[in-house]
Amino acid sequence: MTVERFPIQVEGSGEASGHAGERVLVSLERAQGFGQLKNLPVRLPVGCRRGGCGVCRVRVTAGDYRSDKMSRAHVSEEEEAAGLTLACCIYPLSALSLRLEPAVGVKDKKQHCKKSESGGE
Ligand code: FES
Repeated sequence: MTVERFPIQVEGSGEASGHAGERVLVSLERAQGFGQLKNLPVRLPVGCRRGGCGVCRVRVTAGDYRSDKMSRAHVSEEEEAAGLTLACCIYPLSALSLRLEPAVGVKDKKQHCKKSESGGE
């Protein structure tokens, strides 16, 4: 049995190989691990992996995908209609092009850690 593969182009960073039935976030993590996404400014943001934390927001600019349920606190219906979604909740149905989007309403982890280390908050 052959698993269908779809290229996932990440704007300005490179290409990942997506597999039918595999979450796009997993494909991106694998590509990052193999050094295929060379120009990412930071490591891929990964949190809950279930559509609840919103750190893996991406905007799909081309291609088809199906998606699981996701928190409306992080992606509104209007945003979703405009291609904004969560990489941990989508599965490719064709070649995709996307770009990483900043998370909304998520604490800056570095800032949070600094406060915790110094005994603040
Ligand atoms: S990792 Fe939490 S919403 Fe994707």
